[in-house]
Amino acid sequence: MTHSDATHHPVISATGLFTPEHSISNAELVESFNAYVERHNTAHAEAIAAGEMDALQPSSVEFIEKASGIKARHVMAKEPVLDPATMAPRWDARGNDELSMMAEIGVAACRQALERAGRDAADVDAVLCAASNMERPYPAMAIEIQQALGIDGFAFDMNVACSSATFGIQTAADYIRAGNAKSVLVVSPEITSGHLNWRDRDSHFIFGDVATAVLVEDASIAPTSHWDILGTRLKTVFSNNIRNNFGFLNRATPDDTNEADKLFVQEGRKVFKEVVPLVAEMIVAEAERLEIDPRGLRRLWLHQANAGMNRLIAQRVLGHEASEDESPTVLDTYGNTSSAGSIIAFHLNNEDLQSGDSGLICSFGAGYSAGTVFVRKVG
Ligand code: COA
Repeated sequence: MTHSDATHHPVISATGLFTPEHSISNAELVESFNAYVERHNTAHAEAIAAGEMDALQPSSVEFIEKASGIKARHVMAKEPVLDPATMAPRWDARGNDELSMMAEIGVAACRQALERAGRDAADVDAVLCAASNMERPYPAMAIEIQQALGIDGFAFDMNVACSSATFGIQTAADYIRAGNAKSVLVVSPEITSGHLNWRDRDSHFIFGDVATAVLVEDASIAPTSHWDILGTRLKTVFSNNIRNNFGFLNRATPDDTNEADKLFVQEGRKVFKEVVPLVAEMIVAEAERLEIDPRGLRRLWLHQANAGMNRLIAQRVLGHEASEDESPTVLDTYGNTSSAGSIIAFHLNNEDLQSGDSGLICSFGAGYSAGTVFVRKVG
């Protein structure tokens, strides 16, 4: 979609970020993982010695940093994740009359976006909760967030895994283009620690928790300084290489032999190889359609899954090795925060750009799914 109707033109008015207070370093993570491995191998020493079971292998800080660029991640619950006997987040159950956890962190991110835009929540028309997992099927997280913020309008949840936020931005932009709304919050509370298998050596280091919010509005009501949305594009191609089988039709039962498949599972190498060209080509084609020279983009705010993938994608788009200034990474401190990653990168790294500078917010991940949002600074 390009912006053709000057009367209804979507822009990003502001963004918000909620960062959990607890952070886990690679050293802490690996220490607990390796304690778990040792316990497991000791407990199954006989079976391992008899060749009936493979010994688990230890993890390493060096591997994690080299393979992913991740040095730490924030989490909503640190102790249980690091306890070798638990290795999963745990928290007190909340009653139906209490604000649920996803809503709580989503509201915090939304409040910051509203404050930055100088927008009263009462003037927002819609809330889209766009995230890779929802705390429950219904009532929608988005409606709970809408209620907590005091928004009179409508709200719904949407899930496109790591691309949820950009799909949410296009959906919000489309409401504005069609004249159905003037102010829409796209909120991505990503409590990824709940779907990460902290006992899986291949992926235990990947994810972190966070919440982001993007206020998409009609230019006619936006603050003087905002980001023009030049165009948005979405793409999906089915793949099993990133999968999570958790669902209401296949809940874990006492005789479940494969609980691990109810958590995040991936073929990391295949994802790397297949997604890089798909995304790079999509960005270049979309830039051409919008008559933007991709080499002239001032900054890329890419999905934060793997530093190597971002390096390759940025190089193909810009035509040279991107500097940290051209393609900032937040992976080191946040890890992969699913759909929130590119929004965190944007939120933390956009204030120094000048009026007229163009950039790209881009997501990619499970589905496969990919989304591009080309923006230009105004004011
Ligand atoms: N610690 C130490 N060594 C480890 C390890 C760990 N935690 N995990 C795996 N290894 C070992 C493997 O056993 C393998 O050893 P081998 O060569 O002796 O067989 C070696 O390291 C390489 O493993 P591999 O899984 O091929 O690593 P990789 O370089 O592909 O990196 C990912 C793994 C997951 C970081 C990387 O593939 C990736 O990020 N892919 C993109 C996927 C993605 O971003 N998904 C997120 C969803 S959006």
